[in-house]
Amino acid sequence: MKSSALELKQVSKTFTKDGQTVNAVQSVDLTVEQGELVTFLGPSGCGKTTTLRMVAGFELPTAGEITIQGKDMTNMPVNKRGIGFVFQNYALFPHMSVYGNVAYGLKARGERTRDIGEKVRSALKLVGLANTENRYPNQLSGGEQQRVALARVIVMEPNLLLMDEPLSNLDAKLRLHMRTEIRALQKKLGITCLYVTHDQSEALTMADRIVVMNKGRVEQVGTPFEIYSNPQSVFVADFIGQANIVELQIVLAEQETLTAQIPGGGTFKARALRPDHHVQGSELYRTGQSAALVIRPENILVQDPSSEDGTFPAHVRSSIYVGSHVEYELVLANGTAIKAMVPFSRGMHIYEQQEQVSLLFDATATAFLPL
Ligand SMILES: Nc1ncnc2c1ncn2[C@@H]1O[C@H](COP(=O)(O)OP(=O)(O)OP(=O)(O)O)[C@@H](O)[C@H]1O
Ligand SMILES: [Mg+2]
Repeated sequence: MKSSALELKQVSKTFTKDGQTVNAVQSVDLTVEQGELVTFLGPSGCGKTTTLRMVAGFELPTAGEITIQGKDMTNMPVNKRGIGFVFQNYALFPHMSVYGNVAYGLKARGERTRDIGEKVRSALKLVGLANTENRYPNQLSGGEQQRVALARVIVMEPNLLLMDEPLSNLDAKLRLHMRTEIRALQKKLGITCLYVTHDQSEALTMADRIVVMNKGRVEQVGTPFEIYSNPQSVFVADFIGQANIVELQIVLAEQETLTAQIPGGGTFKARALRPDHHVQGSELYRTGQSAALVIRPENILVQDPSSEDGTFPAHVRSSIYVGSHVEYELVLANGTAIKAMVPFSRGMHIYEQQEQVSLLFDATATAFLPL
């Protein structure tokens, strides 16, 4: 069987500083296949950079194993790993031309001058900078400098490309442009890539799969669609996109579904998720206890008050017409605030502040999660 491009097995990193220990990364398991682009997403301090630094070899894990294409790399020196990195401060050599910057690694590796010329030119062509060889970094725009940094890494033909917030120094428009370019290039070359970003939309648009981290641990790994539409924890639901998280009391817990009490109303039935990171067999949901109902703003209908079972009585706190949609802030009978985005259609009634309404949650697009 072909080995995976990268495997992390129970990788942990503990830092000790001034007598204090920080569990920066805790028991991370991850398998990345050849040619995949995997983004790391999570709040500041959750261990994204530390994980990448261990893969690169700048930090040694406190525990666990890292293999690259089936070979144990856990304690291998940085320069023996065949890895390229582009970090936030990509720092080109200011006194060297574009050519010199891109050729640097190949020269250091002792390649023949003629080969170097060919490789540098083809790398610069790939990043769309064919005619800039003789310029210096201060004669390039931010985006062009970033592309030189990329060419400098690609030219080395790394097995694995690590990028830690590579676009965070660029303005919004250039970021959008560069993310598409990096993705296209990564696909074209079939390079396996780990990509750290703070930016959700960057993670969602670029990734084959997303790793969501929280406090040193992996909360969920999945395709952008899985992460958005099937979050396996309240943390992920809350962190990715906009989600309403409503605590409801369970009146009936079945294997696949829960029925819960609607504040000031009837009952609501929906799927119950049983995330794998919870110990199998332990009872996640019990009658009388609460569970979190997760629903995205676009999966809620706002209607005239009705006593129909399954609808949520609410009042309108605010409504804003934004052209294609009406954005509502609503309040349930127990005080929980809810956001809803209703597509606008001609002639539709827009409810106003203080009006009583009924909310209809699309049961196919919502699920219960353990609190
Ligand atoms: N060399 C170090 N010594 C001590 N603690 C460290 C060291 N490097 C990182 N840490 C701690 O480890 C934790 C994880 O840090 P890391 O840099 O991996 O986070 P991150 O997810 O990359 O955050 P950000 O999004 O802010 O870049 C943090 O609590 C950080 O303070
Ligand atoms: Mg970081």
